[in-house]
Amino acid sequence: MTRYFFLCILFALFFSFSASGATRKIIFDTDPGSDDAMALMLALNSPELDVRAITVVPGNVTAKQGLENALRMVSLANRCDIPVAAGAQHPLFQKLITAEFWHGKNGLADVELPPSKCKVDSRYGPDLIIELVHAAPHDITLVPVGPLTNIALALEKDPSIVPLVKEVIIMGGSITGGNVNAAAEANIYNDPEAAQIVFQAGWQVTMVGLDVGDKTLLSKKHLQQLGQTHGPINDFISKVASYLVDLSAKFGSPGTPMYDPLAVGVAIDSTLVTASAMHVDVETKGEFTRGETVANRRGAVERNVLHGDRYVIEGVDKVEPNAKVCVAVDAERFLQLFVSRIGGK
Ligand code: BDR
Ligand code: CA
Repeated sequence: MTRYFFLCILFALFFSFSASGATRKIIFDTDPGSDDAMALMLALNSPELDVRAITVVPGNVTAKQGLENALRMVSLANRCDIPVAAGAQHPLFQKLITAEFWHGKNGLADVELPPSKCKVDSRYGPDLIIELVHAAPHDITLVPVGPLTNIALALEKDPSIVPLVKEVIIMGGSITGGNVNAAAEANIYNDPEAAQIVFQAGWQVTMVGLDVGDKTLLSKKHLQQLGQTHGPINDFISKVASYLVDLSAKFGSPGTPMYDPLAVGVAIDSTLVTASAMHVDVETKGEFTRGETVANRRGAVERNVLHGDRYVIEGVDKVEPNAKVCVAVDAERFLQLFVSRIGGK
């Protein structure tokens, strides 16, 4: 009897561990977006993740087009059970910059998906984030892969979510130069004030920036792999990826960077990347550097004190890290994970 009881406890412990340990609850905040599409489909087809909501932010396309794209994609994936909510309509303090130039007129590489069977959730994106975080304290990971407007709005409205969020895995930023210009990465450039709010909030941030995204190039080889299998998601992603590979070729690159999918990859398996703890600030004023993520790699700043007509260095002050910045990636392992999750779906 005692032995039976002991076994039951062991089983219960095992199953409760695998239930909580095996899946990570995420809120996917997105500006869909061709690589957003690949990221969403990776998330929806990965058993390690439980997508609790999709919140839409303007960026690659307008808020309206992004919402339509998100709804069509969850419909294609037969996942009308996932709430899809509209959020901010524009960045906090600047005009919206959209990127149809890179993502196609509809944002989805000009691939026309059938109209959605799924309906929009009536809740406001930032409010939905707040609600879900409170409903599952310490259990929700935010995965924003667009400008950080919705996340900043949620934080401003309810700062008490900070200690309740498990992790914030951001696709954005760079410590080695930008893709919009010399300094700034697009998601941060498109709402620098929101990004600064999110980086300084005091929660656990993982920055999946251009430094690693630029190393994960999906190439013709991966397209061929995807072309060997079929299914509605497989075929949609093949078309999107093929458009992006062709576009990259025009700019001399052998493949398309998997920026947003890699952020999802890190949520699935953090061992895909190597990260270093740094303090990251977002430049909001610089003439050439607005939107740059400025990372302190030494963890220190000099203390300059005014002595008469000059400053004198009196010592060095420690700077606490506020983010884990991804600096290296096992690119091919990630790309094979992506292909294996999408293949045949
Ligand atoms: C980021 O900008 C967007 O165009 C992509 O979707 C990605 O989130 C890369 O800089
Ligand atoms: Ca994006």
